[in-house]
Formats: sequence, structure tokens, C-alpha cells
Amino acid sequence: AQKGGYEHFMLKEIFEQPTVIGQTLNVYYNAATGRVAMPALPFKLADITHVTIVACGTSYYAGLVARYWLESLARISVDIDVASEFRYREPVMKKGGLTIVISQSGETADTLAALRYAKSAGQHTLAIVNAPESSMSHEAEATLYTHAGPEIGVASTKAFTTQLTVLACFALALAEAHDTMDEAEMARLTHALAEVPARVSEVLHHSEAIEKLAAKIQHATDMLFIGRGTSYAIAHEAALKMKEISYIHAEAYAAGEMKHSPIALIDEAVPIIAITPHDKLFEKTASNIQEAAARGGRIVVFSDAAGIAQL
Ligand code: M6R
Repeated sequence: AQKGGYEHFMLKEIFEQPTVIGQTLNVYYNAATGRVAMPALPFKLADITHVTIVACGTSYYAGLVARYWLESLARISVDIDVASEFRYREPVMKKGGLTIVISQSGETADTLAALRYAKSAGQHTLAIVNAPESSMSHEAEATLYTHAGPEIGVASTKAFTTQLTVLACFALALAEAHDTMDEAEMARLTHALAEVPARVSEVLHHSEAIEKLAAKIQHATDMLFIGRGTSYAIAHEAALKMKEISYIHAEAYAAGEMKHSPIALIDEAVPIIAITPHDKLFEKTASNIQEAAARGGRIVVFSDAAGIAQL
């Protein structure tokens, strides 16, 4: 593995994302038909009525995003837990459910133990794994690989976004099997999925602006990340990365929870990082941002053009 001219592996892997997301889409999305295409699985997607997701760290947060997708698109009930809790809490599992374990390495001990527990509880099992030939891919009933290539950086980046890519395709395949989406919505989402590599490239073109922005808040010792829906899950992953990479204390909150106490922390020393694309929850998060600004908080907003125009 070479750094390819980048300062460190994490940076290289961040910039590899458009390529590896594209590689992963090539496996689970058929550009000719414009539809997602799952490989043959040893269980019928139409028979799956409950999903349990178990993982650790960043992989867990990919699962947290997927919970929203599986519930809203495929109308499937979803439980999710971190593997280090799941494996010891003796969860009650209804036979015939599907347990999805997510892991870059395929070797994380708690996640592997959770997979074994789910099997012993009569669950179908699916591993979403990056490393080939791992314990999880050997032990799960089926494996969907993320095609991120080796992730050398300890901080997960491209493994996370390719996990999301596989999970998005899987959620759409489940929705198709359960007939929960109309054709127009399915076409809109698969088209959006196919555009992800190009969109990620666009974001990476802003790297200088992002660096300047980071410089403005680099001396903060605490940060709050807020969002709603899938952006709440992303806020968790962002806070994890801030702690892991910058050694800055960071917490994630559901934006709607701010008023239930964390708002007391807000002052100009604690930047609020709001993740809020212009989706159905945008107005709600925008009003939480205003509340934080009224308390003197310094706000950094990650949104899209439509969102920024409205703030
Ligand atoms: O290999 P795994 O995905 O099972 O690893 C789980 C976590 O240790 C991992 O996601 C960790 O949180 C990230 N490397 C942090 O960036």
C-alpha cells in the first residue's frame, strides 16, 4: 500500500471514495436497467419481516443510517444495537428474522460473537464486510462485500461510505421485494444512487474551503453535532471522527433533543455543527439552529444548495 502522494492514508482514502463507491455500485446496481441487483441470497427477501443490525463504532453508525432507510423504504421493523451490548444482553429474537452484521475487517470480536448468537437464535444472517476471506464472511449465511479496497487508515472513511452504498442498495432491493415503493419513487432513488460518486467528487472539490472553516474552530475543546433522521446518525459518526482524529470532545444530539438540556451548554466556545440537507426535516432543524444562534452559539452548517439558500 502506497500513500500515492497524499500526506497520510486517511486523506488518500477520503479521496478514493468516488472510485470505490462507483466500484461498489457496479456490483449492486445495474446501470443498464437502472435497478438495484442483489446477488442470489440463501433466503427470500420477500420473507424477511424483521431486521436486526449489529456492529461496532463507525460500522454501527452505517447501520444506524440504514435503519431509517429500511423502515421508510421497505417498511420493515428494525432493531439495532452495538455488538458489545447485544452479545451480552441475551436479546429475544423471533425465529426467521434477518440479522445483518456490518464490519470493515470482518474480524471484530464483539460483532463476530453477535453473529454467532443470532445464528443460534434461528436468524438468517448477512455480513456486510470489506476484507475478503474474513471470519464473518465464513460464518454468515451470506455476505455482501463492500468494494473499498484495503483500508489502511485506522479511521474508517471509504469503508463507511461503501457500507452505506451496499445498505442503500439492499434497502431498495427489500423495498422492491415487499412492493412498498411506487415505480416513480424507485426510479428517482436509483437515479440518485447512481449519481453518488459524482456528488462525492463535488464535495471533495470543496476541501480547501472546508480546511479554512476548520481552522476557525480548531481551538474549541468541545463540539456538538446535531441532525435529524439519517443526519442524526451521520452526526454520531462525525462526533466519533472528531474525537478519534482531532482529540476534541464531541457529542451528537438529535436536533430536537437540544431543548431538553444540551442547549444549556451553548456559548461561543462550543461550536454547533448542524447536518441538515434540504429534506423533509429541514425546517425543523433550521429552527433548532436559530435557537442555538440566539444563545450565542457559533454554528457551522453542512447542507446542500437548496438548504443554504433558505438559511
Ligand atoms: O472492522 P470493524 O468495522 O468491525 O471495526 C469496528 C470499529 O472498530 C471501527 O468501525 C472504528 O470505530 C473505526 N475504525 C473508527 O474510525
